[in-house]
Amino acid sequence: MSNVYASKHPLVAHKLSLLRDVSTEPKRFRELVREIAALLTYEATADLSLQPITVQTPLATTTGSELQARIGLVPILRAGLGMVEGVWELMPSAEVWHIGLYRDERTLKPVQYYNKLPVEPTVTVCLILDPMLATGGSAVATVDILKKWGAKTIKFVGVIGAPEGIAALHRSHPDVPIHLGAIDDRLNEHGYIVPGLGDAGDRQFGTG
Ligand code: PRP
Ligand code: URA
Repeated sequence: MSNVYASKHPLVAHKLSLLRDVSTEPKRFRELVREIAALLTYEATADLSLQPITVQTPLATTTGSELQARIGLVPILRAGLGMVEGVWELMPSAEVWHIGLYRDERTLKPVQYYNKLPVEPTVTVCLILDPMLATGGSAVATVDILKKWGAKTIKFVGVIGAPEGIAALHRSHPDVPIHLGAIDDRLNEHGYIVPGLGDAGDRQFGTG
């Protein structure tokens, strides 16, 4: 499938295995989510445009580069929150716009409970952050919201994707690149990714 990228980086694979481990405690789990988010975003932003700038070094004047894009990080609450710090360390001037969604346990459909986006878009590139792409309902709803807002360039950055969720997001929004740490086997009857890592929100926040 075009526009779907699963990281091949050994550091991602190593950290992802620790993240999946049922014995990994919330503190370490949060650290790993943060670290993996940074590594995946490094890969997801490889095509960002630059503009030339003049830089005065101690020895000479030279031509440097600065990012053209105004970047917005869009974590999907709750679990996406844990990805923000790692990405922010790479791009500290990024804006952060939270979208609150939870999956209805019965229907697995996303229910929106938070959105404070201003009327006009303030960024040119949105990076949606959510560790889990399961049925894809939350990701599709978030892209819908961002497109309605006027966002022109949107990328999805997630830790684990199920084939079902990847297909759903790609079907609804083929223009949105999907960057993942791994593509897993399937969803189970409760909509959980298998083998996955369990509930990403509960494991980060110690609420499981
Ligand atoms: C999880 C996850 C995604 C969503 C993925 O959130 O963080 O947002 O499920 O599932 P989907 O692809 O089927 O929509 P959850 O609803 O558990 O909320 P939480 O982050 O607050 O725990
Ligand atoms: N949300 C999670 O946190 N984990 C899954 O496996 C699916 C949805």
